[in-house]
Amino acid sequence: MPRSHIESDLTDSARGRGSHVRLCYEVDQLTGYCGWVLGESGEFFVAPFVVSTLLAAQTLLKIALEAGHGQEWARVTCSLTDLEKRAAIVEMNFKHVFDFVEFEIEPSAFTSAISELRSGHRLKPLNQTSALQFAKLHNAAFTGVDNSLPMTEAQAQEFLAAKDTAHELSFAIVDEGNEVIAYALVKDDGYVDSIGVSPVFQGQNLGTMLFQTVLKEAARRNFKRLFTTVSSRNEASVRLHRRLGFRELERRTVFQKTL
Ligand SMILES: CC(C)(COP(=O)(O)OP(=O)(O)OC[C@H]1O[C@@H](n2cnc3c(N)ncnc32)[C@H](O)[C@@H]1OP(=O)(O)O)[C@@H](O)C(=O)NCCC(=O)NCCS
Repeated sequence: MPRSHIESDLTDSARGRGSHVRLCYEVDQLTGYCGWVLGESGEFFVAPFVVSTLLAAQTLLKIALEAGHGQEWARVTCSLTDLEKRAAIVEMNFKHVFDFVEFEIEPSAFTSAISELRSGHRLKPLNQTSALQFAKLHNAAFTGVDNSLPMTEAQAQEFLAAKDTAHELSFAIVDEGNEVIAYALVKDDGYVDSIGVSPVFQGQNLGTMLFQTVLKEAARRNFKRLFTTVSSRNEASVRLHRRLGFRELERRTVFQKTL
C-alpha cells in the first residue's frame, strides 16, 4: 500500500526519531530502507521495509535482526508481488502468521444515513481530547490486537498535534462524564490509522457510527479515497469495513520469526 508519509513513518518517536532506520545504497543508488520498533513485551517490528533488490532486502533484514537481539520475536510484512523481499524473508526462516487486508472506499459512494448516538454521548474533534485520555482508550481498545503496541501519553500527543493528521476527519465519542469511549484517527492522505472503541462499549454500534461520520465528512471535503489495513484475524474490524462498503484491494503476508 503506497503511503505518502515516509518521513513521519521513519522519524517518529517509536523509531527513535530516525535512529532505528537504515538506508541501503548499492554504488550510489538507494536500493532500500527500513525502520524498526521495539515493544516492551518482546515484540520487534521491522516496518517500513522497502527494497528494490534482493541484496538490499538481505542486508537490511540482517542489520535489523541484529538490532532486535534480546526481543522475543520479529515480524515483517510482504505483498505477493514483492519477490526480492519475500525471498530474503523466507531465507531467514520467517513463518507466515496471518495476513494484513488492505481495504479502500470512495467516500462519495457512501450514501447511508448516520446512526444516532445514544443520549449523553457526544462527538467531538479528536484533537480537543486530552492526550492522556486518548492514550488510555487506545490501550484499552487495542489490547490483544495484532501488531499494536501500547501508546504513551507523549506518543498520543504526537498524533494529536501531527501535521499529517487529518484533524477534520479525526473524531472522538465522549460519554456523559466527558470520558473518551471511542475514536477514529485519519491521516491527510485518507489513511485510516486506527479506530478504537472502549471494550465496555464494543458491539454497540459506536464503531459503525464513527466510521459513517468519517465517511460523510471525507465526502464533503472531497477526499477521493479512504484506505486502511486490518489483520485477517480481527473479525470485528473486517466485518465493520465490509459492511460499510470497503473493498479488499490486496493482502500482505505477515511473517514472524522467533528470535
Ligand atoms: C473494531 C471495532 C472498532 C468495531 O467497533 P464496534 O463499535 O465494536 O462495532 P459495531 O458495534 O459498530 O459493529 C461492527 C461489526 O463488528 C462486529 N463485532 C463487534 N464486536 C465484535 C466482536 N467482539 N467479535 C466479532 N464481531 C464483532 C459486529 O457484529 C458488526 O458486524 P456485523 O454488522 O457484520 O454484525 C471495535 O470492536 C474495536 O475497537 N476493536 C479493537 C480495536 C480494533 O481492532 N480496531 C480496528 C483495527 S484499526
